[in-house]
Amino acid sequence: MRSLVDFSHLNLLDPLGAKALCGFDLVFYRNVSIYFDADSRKTILNNLHGAMNDTGVLLLGVSETLANDLGIFRLVEEGGSFYFAKAAASPPPAVAPKRPPPKLRPPGKPEHHAVRPAVVPRPAAGADWASVIATMRALLRAKRYDEALRTIRALGASADPRLLLLEGHVRLHMRQFAEAAAIGERAVAADSWSCDAHMLLALAAKWQGDTAAAIRSLKVIVYAKPNCWPAHYYLATLLHDLDAAKARREYAAALRQIDADPDPDGGLWLPLDLPVADIRFLCEHHSAAAEASTPRQGQSGGP
Ligand SMILES: C[S@@+](CC[C@H](N)C(=O)[O-])C[C@H]1O[C@@H](n2cnc3c(N)ncnc32)[C@H](O)[C@@H]1O
Repeated sequence: MRSLVDFSHLNLLDPLGAKALCGFDLVFYRNVSIYFDADSRKTILNNLHGAMNDTGVLLLGVSETLANDLGIFRLVEEGGSFYFAKAAASPPPAVAPKRPPPKLRPPGKPEHHAVRPAVVPRPAAGADWASVIATMRALLRAKRYDEALRTIRALGASADPRLLLLEGHVRLHMRQFAEAAAIGERAVAADSWSCDAHMLLALAAKWQGDTAAAIRSLKVIVYAKPNCWPAHYYLATLLHDLDAAKARREYAAALRQIDADPDPDGGLWLPLDLPVADIRFLCEHHSAAAEASTPRQGQSGGP
């Protein structure tokens, strides 16, 4: 093992090329940025950016990630974890995120376990949907995707459209985006106002890099279900580089809805199981940052 590892000293503020450091796929830069002011953080992020491959991923410590969202790397949220991607467009293919336990939890929701549960509750065949959702939530957290699909198939005799939605949701977790999109299309054809179906379509489009299609589906959701905070949040992230003012409004809307009801599923039927506390922090950060750089109403025209 020792023979495979190179050790060297460096000053992160110096260009890394001078030390012939380049071609990194993954950089762990943890618990270091806390020592630096914003200008030094930018210098270091630019140095790391230059030393990484195009599909490279940068990981910081939990408490410092958002303070390094300085427009140099792209902040990506996936499965409840945040990381920085060098690539501007679609995310790198495979990162296995470990989900942190959310700090906000509405009453009545089950506790969140990042580890594989010892016993996964079996759904009762038939119509006990609360039990089915609890089972799917546990299986998805444990990344037991094949078992999740088998569970859905075992319930398939009733051919309930909700099983279709669940399968699409599992396919999203498995990164089978085309399959998830096809299932989303079928679900929307069966019920054009199903917010769960539109969320499936939106997330499949988002992960396939089809921003326009993702925005279209999310707009249907915020129209049909204005208190669905994940729809506002995803809209904000997609609008971030397209229309800063609209993105700010969507971040603010997501923040208001989270504060009204911090449901990790955003009021949808599907177990989205999102990290509410982290996303709330992000929404607060982006709506406040934009507010600070936006002229006040009455000074040079309103929104
Ligand atoms: C709190 S320690 C974190 C170490 C390790 N990443 C961890 O999480 O355990 C911070 C480290 O940053 C290093 N450091 C501070 N300024 C640096 C700079 N300009 N260039 C390189 N390393 C630096 C310090 O030497 C120290 O080892």
